[in-house]
Amino acid sequence: MTITIALTKGRIEKSTVDLLTQVGFDMSFMQDKGRHLIFESPDQAFRFLLVKAPDVATYVRHGVADLGIVGKDLLIEYATGVLEVLDLNFGLCKFAVASVPSYNPQDHKRKRIATKYPQVARQHFHKKGEDVEIIAIQGSVEIAPVLGLADAIVDIVETGSTLVANGLVEFEDICRISARLIANQAAIKNKPEVIAFIKKIESIVGRKEQAFDETFSRKTR
Ligand code: PRP
Repeated sequence: MTITIALTKGRIEKSTVDLLTQVGFDMSFMQDKGRHLIFESPDQAFRFLLVKAPDVATYVRHGVADLGIVGKDLLIEYATGVLEVLDLNFGLCKFAVASVPSYNPQDHKRKRIATKYPQVARQHFHKKGEDVEIIAIQGSVEIAPVLGLADAIVDIVETGSTLVANGLVEFEDICRISARLIANQAAIKNKPEVIAFIKKIESIVGRKEQAFDETFSRKTR
């Protein structure tokens, strides 16, 4: 039986390929993939789909893919109906509120918040008891407060360099984000090889965490 895995194009692609290489796959096709979006392992036991981040959970939810690798940001933003089985501990970044230095978070006027993540932004301000106007945009969010489209943004911050390059500063951390392994519920029940594959990934991610912990404790000793 073939296991189908939906992979996210872009930001976490390289780390995903590194992980699957450690699992034992020859992922060299990813270097020379051209415009191809579906790949099969030579023994046809595995099939990989390369899709946009918001679509990974859709393929998994509909059972087209048994498993998916996607950022937690997408799982928070969209109600997914999939099982989140492992924190893969790469693709580390966070959601944050940022704006121009003159922004005043305590200001009592109704704020306009530009974001690619309307649900995350609405929930964050709702928790603080603030009703905000959400301005949904698709990218280059950082320019919105600079040009006066919004008072602030809710966006992903990884290195922070996009904020700096556009003269923005962080005002609030919202939550940590990392890549997750997700699974289709029926595949977990009916395909034992999917469970075996998850266990294999878990052992590799566990070893990585241990290596990280050891390095960290050496550094802090
Ligand atoms: C993301 C995010 C920020 C940037 C943060 O955008 O929306 O703009 O990366 O990364 P940094 O903290 O390392 O600078 P993405 O690259 O996905 O492009 P986009 O602006 O087109 O959405």
